[in-house]
Amino acid sequence: GLARRIDRPVVLVGLMGVGKSTVGRRLAALLDTDFIDVDEEIERAADRSVSEIFEAHGELYFRAGERRVIARLVEEGHGVIATGGGAFVDPETRALILDRAIAVWLDCDIDTLVERTARRDSRPLLRKGDPRAILTQLKDQRGDAYAEAQVHVVTDDAPHTETALSILSAIDA
Ligand code: S3P
Repeated sequence: GLARRIDRPVVLVGLMGVGKSTVGRRLAALLDTDFIDVDEEIERAADRSVSEIFEAHGELYFRAGERRVIARLVEEGHGVIATGGGAFVDPETRALILDRAIAVWLDCDIDTLVERTARRDSRPLLRKGDPRAILTQLKDQRGDAYAEAQVHVVTDDAPHTETALSILSAIDA
């Protein structure tokens, strides 16, 4: 592509529904590099869905597996990596990403998150109660961790292609 090649993986972080996977795919195409989705990798490795892992083993077990998968993917040097919303909140996972990759925090308003997460019923954390209340609480709890990312891009309800272009200019690729 026309884009300058970047020497470290670009890791997308941020809440469920912000568009990490879709934006990640577009960004990888723009950078002419590969894209990998951490939740999909976990599901492949465990041969079961994220919801099933939460149900059978709980969140802590999921986080430990998530940390191992991210360590491997960063090590393998993939171009663009989309994480699940809680990954960057784990201190060890966050330290690893900050050390070895470029973390990009995708951030948007609650209305957009509620609308986008409602389209797919695959998020165990949102089944525990009212999705809007849960997303509002998670945004509040996780804001300080996400803010450690090297790059912050506010998307709100911008089209995903536009967001991918915003990231390109933010990482100066
Ligand atoms: C989670 C987000 C999900 C998935 C799991 C936990 C979270 O990924 O990893 O349900 O803690 O925010 P997405 O952000 O891709 O929905």
